[in-house]
Amino acid sequence: SVYPDQHVAAIKVANRIADLIRDKQSRGERAVLGLATGVTPIGVYRELVRMHQEEGLSFANVVTFNLDEYYPMQPTAEQSYVTFMKENLFNHVDIDMANVHIPDGTLEQDQIHAYCLAYEQKITSFGGLDLQLLGIGRTGHIGFNEPGSAPNSGTRLVTLDEMTRRDASRDFGGKENVPRKAITMGIGTIFKAREIILMAWSGKKAPIIKKAVEGETSSDVPATYLQLSDNVEFVLDQDAAASL
Ligand code: GLP
Repeated sequence: SVYPDQHVAAIKVANRIADLIRDKQSRGERAVLGLATGVTPIGVYRELVRMHQEEGLSFANVVTFNLDEYYPMQPTAEQSYVTFMKENLFNHVDIDMANVHIPDGTLEQDQIHAYCLAYEQKITSFGGLDLQLLGIGRTGHIGFNEPGSAPNSGTRLVTLDEMTRRDASRDFGGKENVPRKAITMGIGTIFKAREIILMAWSGKKAPIIKKAVEGETSSDVPATYLQLSDNVEFVLDQDAAASL
């Protein structure tokens, strides 16, 4: 779907999430959300916070799994995705932090493999992801699944692309400070979600959106794999959709 501007689009996505949370709540079940970071989903989180504050939307029955985290990364660091999620959503709603899962950037290298398998198992143990939110990087990455990622990849340690590190350099005060690696859910992990919403705003994303939507499916642009799934919706503003 293409919306005139990102605010309208973000509200649509937030409403979809709120409907899911309320529907699950009415059945005494938990909503299992896959969450994304970056500037793209901020408007969605802001609207969810507003719905919590003004309309009593409760997150008491919500379980979350974030897509990714830099490695290495301390959760208390300003640039961590833990800090991002707390500042943009978790600190402002009634979610039980025991229900929040974000890949751990503090592990020793030799612990990571087992940790990633356990992350996958944890998602499965909650019945899988009901809905996965995605942004898209200019390399075509989803989560931190950079070019070369396999369609059946699972949660793992990955090496960040140079363009991704350049795009993140402002947050870190220089590219040399951007971590070289990250822990990310895989393409396969994302694919198992019952519903996937990829959001993109602004003309900066127009070239990669064109490739992701119309390009040939290939690991060169991991987001093209989304073409293979029927439960994916691209939610775009007019500028991001301009080249389609
Ligand atoms: C980072 C995140 C991705 C996100 C991408 C785009 O690489 N790991 O999940 O989609 O950035 O970020 P932005 O939304 O800031 O453009």
